[in-house]
Amino acid sequence: MKRIIIAIDGFSSCGKSTMAKDLAREIGYIYIDSGAMYRAVTLYSLRHHYFNGNEIDADKLQQDMPAIQISFKLNAQQRPETYLNSENVENEIRGMEVSSRVSLIAALPFVREALVRLQQEMGKEKGIVMDGRDIGTTVFPDAEMKVFVTASAEIRAQRRFDELKAKGQPASFEEILQNVKERDYIDQNREVSPLRKADDALLLDNSNLTIAEQKEWLMTQFKRITEEK
Ligand code: DC
Repeated sequence: MKRIIIAIDGFSSCGKSTMAKDLAREIGYIYIDSGAMYRAVTLYSLRHHYFNGNEIDADKLQQDMPAIQISFKLNAQQRPETYLNSENVENEIRGMEVSSRVSLIAALPFVREALVRLQQEMGKEKGIVMDGRDIGTTVFPDAEMKVFVTASAEIRAQRRFDELKAKGQPASFEEILQNVKERDYIDQNREVSPLRKADDALLLDNSNLTIAEQKEWLMTQFKRITEEK
């Protein structure tokens, strides 16, 4: 069977990563979380004190970009984890400090250019599931399967709240909801690669779907598309 590229885009915290990861495992594809790459650059900027409140010293970050290495490695449970210059940063990039600043980093054209190039390199051999905001529109406009995922802001905030709680990282629901709404706005209104559904993407609103129902839907689409090829 021909190996394809699967692009999964959509709003933050709508379960894209879990969905994309499970799908990749099921069909034996590589999974790449492009949001983790923007998060890793954000963590780098925080550690180097390039933020001043909500301002970023873009010149300093731009100078450092060639030296910022981002990669993924499978852990003992075969789950991919994010590495920043050889250090495992998987947990740190999911905290509120990074979450509340990552949109600023994702709006910088030089960051997007560098990460899009790296993402395209990772998909050269196909057989890949990548999730993000601009995968079906900018990174892989020719992807054979494109899915645009959405769910209500309240449901997404609840999911992120539960996720952080399970990891022992306490946070307030109101704060998370605010953060989800702010990120939606920034993601949809930024100048470079704003979040939008590609014309040929399949729409998936998972507000009221169970994980199992969603999985079945994805597998049906995958089989249909690969059988057509
Ligand atoms: O999916 P996530 O919440 O981990 O994404 C983190 C941030 O990165 C989010 O603000 C949107 C941005 N992002 C992006 O601009 N383009 C992508 N391909 C992936 C994420």
